[in-house]
Parts: sequence; structure tokens; C-alpha cells
Amino acid sequence: MANLVITIDGPAASGKSTVARLLAQRIGANFLDTGAMYRAVTLAAVKAGLDLEDEEELIKVLDDSKFNFRIDKTMTSISIDGLDVTEEIRKPDITANTYYIASSPKVRAKLVQMQRVIATDKTKIVTEGRDQGSVAFPEAAVKFYLTASLDERARRRLNELRDKGYEENSETIKAAIEARDKSDSGRDVGPLVPPKDAVIIDTTNLTAEEVVEQLIGRLKKRPTLEFKPSRIWIEIIQIKGQKIWYWLARWACRLLCLFAFHLRFYGTENIPDKGGFLLVSNHQSYLDPIFCGVGLKRHLFYLARDSLFDNRFFGWLLGSVNTIPVKRDKADLSSIRKVIAKLSMGQGVCLFPEGTRSIDGKIAPFKAGFGLLARRAKVAVVPVLIDGAFECWPRHRRIFTPGSIVVCFGRTIKAEQLNKMSDRDLAKYLTDKLKIMQCQCRTKQGKISYDYQPLSAEAIGIEK
Ligand code: C5P
Repeated sequence: MANLVITIDGPAASGKSTVARLLAQRIGANFLDTGAMYRAVTLAAVKAGLDLEDEEELIKVLDDSKFNFRIDKTMTSISIDGLDVTEEIRKPDITANTYYIASSPKVRAKLVQMQRVIATDKTKIVTEGRDQGSVAFPEAAVKFYLTASLDERARRRLNELRDKGYEENSETIKAAIEARDKSDSGRDVGPLVPPKDAVIIDTTNLTAEEVVEQLIGRLKKRPTLEFKPSRIWIEIIQIKGQKIWYWLARWACRLLCLFAFHLRFYGTENIPDKGGFLLVSNHQSYLDPIFCGVGLKRHLFYLARDSLFDNRFFGWLLGSVNTIPVKRDKADLSSIRKVIAKLSMGQGVCLFPEGTRSIDGKIAPFKAGFGLLARRAKVAVVPVLIDGAFECWPRHRRIFTPGSIVVCFGRTIKAEQLNKMSDRDLAKYLTDKLKIMQCQCRTKQGKISYDYQPLSAEAIGIEK
């Protein structure tokens, strides 16, 4: 990462780009205009005639087109598939459509990652946007947030457009800026907010040069602008290391399962190839998270009660294999947010909504609540049945005994279907559905089945 990162965030036409460019020139830094990146993706999507509300298509355009972002002390130049689009992305119709791209959590995640990569080999960088100090570079040495009155911002944007030959009227511009302010500040991911530790400057009555003088004055006052060790490199290594560690851990678990259990999987094709999904499983033993994840290509995130993190080593181990601590018996908003964020970023999360391990092998009623997570993140739910784990490791035993275990991934419930059910109906439906799967699974294996009457008509109907 750059040794010195300075972030400048603020609403549309608050003067960020001009000021950031001038500041970069003055201090000999590179200048990154992150708005240009959102504009470039918008242009590519518009040109490809994509449905801008379809996040999967937007991600695809990001993957399929070759974006090249070059930065120096005065500008961020952009080409798509070898074609320079630095000017074209400034057209008003592209500006109007950036909303869709900027609201997509997956696109944002990718662009933020690219911004960090761009910063890695720069000695100094001034980066401007909406979320630079809050999300992309929370460790930045200095953060600024520029504002200006709506009238002044509309005046600046009008002049800028006239210079480029576009004729617009001031009321239209004002309305467009207001709409952008609203969508930039109101979105769930990377919203426009002044970072907590930012210096806020109202530029309404200041020229760009005056603002730059103020920024330089602030920079000089910073006692230590000497360079921190490269946080972003550490982060990149952590991300890569995390993936390798998860892979190693899964192989260790596979070996355990190979030697200790006869483990069979059914329905793994029901796991989406990409995009977020919520696995909802019955809970029979401590090893259930392993049984759910060990046979899948996709990585899973898990939840575990926070007391398990009390032991430092075990807590570290759990965290290192994607486990999020959750407070038991109360609404833990921070973990709820983390889970929604993971799902929204296209990850899989595994939950055991019974809340505790089975006392007799049978499935207890699921607690409602997980429906909210799936609905908020707009992801599918995959029911999972584990059978045999209770016989291998019932809750009254201290250690497991080898045995035969079956893991069945049931038919996916799509995000749109979830909207038609209340959380309680969904919990009831999935409890019953897994009970039916369990009975069928046990009968097929020649085991004694459980008596689960009565079951809901919907669950029986679907399974017949
Ligand atoms: O700054 P500029 O007007 O070029 O940005 C275009 C759009 O890109 C903004 O309206 C905003 O929605 C989005 N954007 C963003 N995050 C950034 C930079 C820009 O969401 N870091």
C-alpha cells in the first residue's frame, strides 16, 4: 500500500476531484478518482445493454471486460477493453445511471479491492470518492470530508458541463445532485458519511486553491506523517492466507471424516455456484459445521456463541475458519449486520436455527429470525439435513465414536419465494421439511424413523 494515503470524501460537486488533483500535484502524490471507476462500470453495463438492476449481470461485466485504471499526479485515465473512455464516462446519462452500480454490494466490494490494489505500489496517494476514508482506506493517515451548499454545488456542476459543451438548466442539475445525495447517503453499503476521524471543510465560499491551502495546513499540523507499515499489503496477505488456511483446515477435516466417519453427501448440486446463500441445518453434534462444509467447494461462514471465543487459542481458531461470534439469548445487532454483509457480498453462511444440539436426535422447532437475514441480503436458503451425527456424538458423551453420517442438501428456496412467507411460517416450514427429509433418509438406511406428527401441509406437499 502507499506509504501515505490521504482520503477526500464528499457529496457530488463538492469540489473533491479538483481539490484532490491539486493537492496531489502539490505534495507529489498520485491521484485516484474512484467515481471514475463507478462511472466506467456503468458505461460498460449501459453499452452491453444490461439490466442495471441485475447485480449478477453487473458483476459479470466487471469480470468479462478488461478495465484498466491508470493513475498519475493529475488524472485517473480509464480504458475498457483497450478503448480510452476517460471522457465518455462523464456524459450526463452515465452520471444518472451510476446509482445502480454504486448500490450493488458486490460491485462495491470488487471496486474497493481494486482501489486497494492500485494503492499498493504508490508512495503517496490522494484518493477521492464517497467511502474512501470510511470503507476503502480506514487506516488512511489523513481524512478530509468536503461539503458545500446545494446551490453552490449546482453552480459548479453547471459550469463544468457548459465547459464541456453540455447545455443543462440549473434546476435540473440541482434536482439531479439532490437525488444523487439521497441515494449516495441512503444505501446500505459504502454510504456517503463523513468518516469519524475526518476533517470536515465547507467549501461553499472557498476557491479550490483556498481549500488546498487549508488541507496543506492541516497536513503540516499532523505530528507524524511518517509512514506506517503497509496495512494494505498486510490485508492482502491476510486475505490470501485466510483462503489457504481455510483450504488446509477443510482438508484436515476431510481426513478426520475419512478415518472416523463414513460420510455421504446428497444434493450438493443444490448449492448455488455463486452468490450468497444461507444453509439452514438441524443440529446433532459439535461436528455439524464440519459435516456441512467439508463436502462443498464454496467456503462457508458460521456463527458460534461468543463464550466459545473466551479461550484465546480456540477463539482464534474459530475466527480463522470463518466463525462469527454471536451473543446468545439476545438480539446481537452487530453479528446480524456481519452476517447480512457476508451474504450480501456473495458468501455462504451456515446456521443451526434450533439454537442448540438435539437432545434425542430429533429435530426441535427452528427459531424464527434467520428469514430476516436471507430477506435483507436477498439470498436463497438451502435446507440441510444431518443424520447419524447424534449416534456418533450425542450431547451427553464427551467424545465421538466412529460411525455413518448422511448430509442431504435439500431444494433451494429462492430469494423471491422467501418474500411470500413470514419468518415464523418459514421456520415452521423448514423444520417440517427437514423432519420429512430425516424420516425418508432414516427409512432408506433401514434405521428406525421418528414419529413427527403433525407436519405442515406445505412441507408434506413439497416433499411428496
Ligand atoms: O464522484 P463522481 O460524481 O464521479 O462519482 C460518480 C458516482 O459514483 C457517485 O454519484 C457515487 O454514486 C458513486 N461513487 C461511489 N463511491 C465512490 C465514488 C463514487 O459510490 N467512492
